Amino acid sequence: VKPIVKWAGGKTQLLPTLLPLLAGGRLVEPFLGGAAAALARGGDCIVGDACEDLMEMYDQVRHKPLTVARVLHELADDHCEEAYYRVRARVPLWAPHRAARFLYLNKACFNGLYRVNRSGLFNVPFGRGAPAWPTTTQLMALSREAWRWSMECRDFEETIGYARRGDVVYADPPYDETFDYASGFGADDRTRLRAALGRARVRGARCVVTDADTPVVRELYKTWTVTEIVERRRIGATTREPAACLLIVGDAIR
Ligand SMILES: C[S@@+](CC[C@H](N)C(=O)[O-])C[C@H]1O[C@@H](n2cnc3c(N)ncnc32)[C@H](O)[C@@H]1O
Repeated sequence: VKPIVKWAGGKTQLLPTLLPLLAGGRLVEPFLGGAAAALARGGDCIVGDACEDLMEMYDQVRHKPLTVARVLHELADDHCEEAYYRVRARVPLWAPHRAARFLYLNKACFNGLYRVNRSGLFNVPFGRGAPAWPTTTQLMALSREAWRWSMECRDFEETIGYARRGDVVYADPPYDETFDYASGFGADDRTRLRAALGRARVRGARCVVTDADTPVVRELYKTWTVTEIVERRRIGATTREPAACLLIVGDAIR
C-alpha cells in the first residue's frame, strides 16, 4: 500500500535503506505524515501526528473508505480552479466530507503543501497539472492497513511513550533548519525528542531517526550510530535536488 497523500518530507525513496532497520515488534511512528514507513512495513503500528486534519483523514478512511471515496470523486469530477477555491473556503460539518476535502486539496493544491492561516483555514493556492486522485481500491487498501494502527492526533512524546521492549521507533521530525510553519516544531522540540527516544531505548526499543545534517543534530546524537545518506528532497517548485541527511540508529539499551 502506497501513501495516499503527498507530504513534505515523504520517505518513499528512502525505503530500501530504512525498511531493514525497522524489522521487529510493533512500529512506533510519532511523525506519521504520508505514512510511507508504516505502510511499507505493514503490521501492528502505533502512530500519531500533530496535524489534526491529517489524522482525521486517516481515521475516516479507516472507518468509511467508500463514503470518503464517493465524496472525493464527486469533488474530482467538478475539479477546476474556481471549484478548488470554493472547496478550500468551506470546511464541511460532516467528518467523512472533511476527509474527502482534505484529500482533494492535497492532490489539487500547489506541490501538495499543507499550510493553514491563523484561524486554521487551509490556504495553499491552486496547483497546475492533473491531480492523481486516490482510487476507491487505494482507499480500501489503506483502510485495511489502518485497522492495524493505534492512531491519534497527538504530540510525538506521547506516541513514543508507548514504545516498549522489542518495538522499533521511527522518528522523522520536521528537519532542522527547515522551519515547519504548520506545526512550529523548534529547537526545544528537537531536544525533547532526543530525550524521549533515549528513554524508549532504556525501555528496550530500538530507535531510528532521520534528520538534516546540521551541527545541532550531530551534537544531539553524538553517542548514537550516525550515517550520512543522500535524499532527493523537493526544494523548489519542481526540482528534486540531492541533499545530505542523517540516518541515526540507537539500539535498545537493555
Ligand atoms: C517530515 S514530516 C514526516 C514525513 C513522513 N515520514 C512521511 O513519510 O510522509 C514531519 C511530520 O511531523 C508532524 N509534526 C510536527 N510537530 C509535531 C509534534 N510536536 N508531534 C507530532 N507530530 C508533529 C508534522 O505534522 C509532519 O507531518
